[in-house]
Amino acid sequence: MFNAPMKICIIGTGYVGLVTGTCFAEIGHDVICVDNAPEKVKMLNSGQMPIFEPGLEEMVKRNAAAGRLKFTSSTKEGVEKSDVVFIAVPTPPQPDGSVDLSFMEKVSREIAEVLTRYKVIVDKSTVPVRTGEKVAETIKRYCKSKVEFDVVSNPEFLREGFAVDDFLHPDRIVLGVQNQRPVHALKEIYAPIKAPVVVTDINSAELIKHASNSFLALKISYINAVSVICEEAGANVEEVAAGMGMDKRIGRSFLNASLGFGGSCFPKDLSAFIKISEQLGYDFGLLREVQKINALQMERFVRKMADTLWVIKEKKIGVLGLAFKQNTDDIRMSPAIALCQRLRKEGAHLRVYDPKAMDKAKTVLKEVTFVDDMNKVPEGCDALVIATEWPQFKELDLDNARKVMTHPILFDGRNLFDPAQMETLGFIYKSVGR
Ligand code: UGA
Repeated sequence: MFNAPMKICIIGTGYVGLVTGTCFAEIGHDVICVDNAPEKVKMLNSGQMPIFEPGLEEMVKRNAAAGRLKFTSSTKEGVEKSDVVFIAVPTPPQPDGSVDLSFMEKVSREIAEVLTRYKVIVDKSTVPVRTGEKVAETIKRYCKSKVEFDVVSNPEFLREGFAVDDFLHPDRIVLGVQNQRPVHALKEIYAPIKAPVVVTDINSAELIKHASNSFLALKISYINAVSVICEEAGANVEEVAAGMGMDKRIGRSFLNASLGFGGSCFPKDLSAFIKISEQLGYDFGLLREVQKINALQMERFVRKMADTLWVIKEKKIGVLGLAFKQNTDDIRMSPAIALCQRLRKEGAHLRVYDPKAMDKAKTVLKEVTFVDDMNKVPEGCDALVIATEWPQFKELDLDNARKVMTHPILFDGRNLFDPAQMETLGFIYKSVGR
């Protein structure tokens, strides 16, 4: 029905919406991004980024200058000017673990109110199974005229920090549809991207997303549980992960033992998947165990610190890394932030650094010293912690660190260094699972 270049509207300019809209413009489509925060729209229109994502800023500027990427705060304008409308609004967690779908519902109503001709409405937000059905019902209920439309589920699999590359080189593109009518338009949109397209029903597409994220979280908790056994048995989790990962059925990725996973996706999606399973009559105990192992991993790390330092109170501790992982300024559900808060509560004095997440961390971490250079963090410290897997931390001047620290003790929550080499350099070195 519609042919490329497509007229696309993206509602919501968070990580997912902004990356999706910008990449669609990059592959030649006409994109209009809608956000209900006028100050964000103003910022984006003046070329400023609300988030740090490698490669995104240049891409936004390039496509905006070429006239293929626009920002507005009017849903009406965005929807009217497009043939395909993507919903990429937040789906935050509620205290009981279920998902707050009020933004999805509101946007569905808003789309319905301005729908005057056939359009394809695509859900990009991560949602529990059966949300697409609700979106379709809502649009039908609130649409004044009898306009035809199709709802599609097109989950995203972007990793923060690698989002642009993941978008342009995905492992697969998932399209959940109620009928075949919107498939052509979606295939046209994604035509420049070389990846297998999975066309399925909406419920299955929604489940592919929750089941994938939960499986990845499970994989991390699995290796974290194995790391405990390695510590107790005197084995090395890195060696175990390498040996396991050579089996193609397992694979090496997401087998990095750590102080636990965080971010705005895994913790939230796990809780949501457990909750929706419960509502469907199944107790997903396996995933509750994944959560438990993740929480325990942080506990064990703090205990390890306390065992070595004896008392944490009044100790000066340097923390390298605040973001929930490398390559991002995102601190949502960051294990590094949780660790800092825990150490503060125990009475430690903290000197902290992150290459990108300092500004965001300043809004949540009080009474800590923010240091602008990683090599200055160790000064006068009783211990140093690696809390985020930024690769540049491997370039830390270790000779200098050993000299300027009160005691050369390093707790590595991301296994960035080699234990034997650290020992040779004169450090007391504690990592995860080795
Ligand atoms: C995750 C998924 O990987 C994406 O496919 C998905 O699209 C996204 O959620 C989403 O639902 O929006 P993201 O949260 O950006 O992406 O981050 P990951 O790279 O998956 O890392 C998540 C957490 O696990 C981080 O705290 C990371 O440090 C930790 N991690 C990861 C480990 O502790 N060990 C590993 O081996 C891998």
